[in-house]
Amino acid sequence: MQKIGILTGGGDAPGLNAVIRAAVKTAINVYDCEVFGIKDGYDGFLAENGIIPLAMGEVRGILPRGGTILGTANRGNPYARKVIQDGKEVIIDVSDDIVKGIQKLKLDALLVLGGDGTLRIAHELAGKGVPVIGVPKTIDNDIGGTEITFGFDTALNIATEALDRLHSTAESHHRAMVLELMGRDAGFIALQAGVSGGADVILIPEIPFKFESVLSKIRRRAERGSKFSILAVSEGARPIDGTQAFSRSGDEIYVPRLGGIGQTVGEYINGHGFESRVTVLGHLQRGGTPTAFDRSLSSRYGAAAVHLAARGGFDRMVALHCGRITDVSLAEATATPKRVKLDDDAVATARGLGISFGDE
Ligand code: F6P
Repeated sequence: MQKIGILTGGGDAPGLNAVIRAAVKTAINVYDCEVFGIKDGYDGFLAENGIIPLAMGEVRGILPRGGTILGTANRGNPYARKVIQDGKEVIIDVSDDIVKGIQKLKLDALLVLGGDGTLRIAHELAGKGVPVIGVPKTIDNDIGGTEITFGFDTALNIATEALDRLHSTAESHHRAMVLELMGRDAGFIALQAGVSGGADVILIPEIPFKFESVLSKIRRRAERGSKFSILAVSEGARPIDGTQAFSRSGDEIYVPRLGGIGQTVGEYINGHGFESRVTVLGHLQRGGTPTAFDRSLSSRYGAAAVHLAARGGFDRMVALHCGRITDVSLAEATATPKRVKLDDDAVATARGLGISFGDE
């Protein structure tokens, strides 16, 4: 193995730089291998100056830094790229140009740090002969084949801190405080932050809710003397007889953007005799320094990805299984996105603690 490339695709997540650093250091120290960074996801292969050498100097000091030194793009699908042709906007497939770019660089491996979409593209590129290795990144923790993605722990800690902070102001003002959290169609952030932050109500996409049930939980608390309530609401949560809330619709390039369910829940509570306020935590969950757990996991993933490349384990993704780093095929990892299981012990724990999922 003489040359490897690294790219970061999709939404950023805390720990990307820690993976890049570990991969570069391992490649140089253990394999005496050259490393190149591809800027802004797959787009870097097509851009002028889109490829940069990554040596020890480039990764110095980046371990605690959020974001990605390589830049990222969550509209960078080479199979569906929007371009202007003859004054008109058209969608074209540039995947063969990407393959040519990789061949021109003579890469022995391409490490792809990404979520569901980016890893699915990596798997398709593997079908065209590209030697890809996936690294599971996302705050949503929704990638199959691994127990945990890097970035999730940091988002969880930020969400928990936000719930802690909402507690004191909720209590002072006797209000119901709604916190809308990210996660797309997976409720891991809201579920685990809700339990860690002592929420009274947790609403997640996997368990459709009834507004009346949410209200009756708040009412029962008030009757028992707790005149405030804390609600952790996943952006993908939906009422039993309704749909998810979107702040922007999707098209061939953009996925629809979830958002607004927290506001709807807050308004319902306000309209039924309890004062409420809504906070949308948004991208604060993705920005800033990774937790120690994410730094460690990212470093282990970065190193393992390079070792896997050296073994020729292409079209595979590094993963965590029973606390140990292992690897799974990208086909398996991208086949079915991970969701909160209804028989998950965290769900049972929450119910046992008296937390309502708004479904009773
Ligand atoms: O997948 C990560 C994530 O942060 C989701 O939780 C969220 O729905 C989405 O990305 C937001 O995407 P964007 O940064 O494009 O607004």
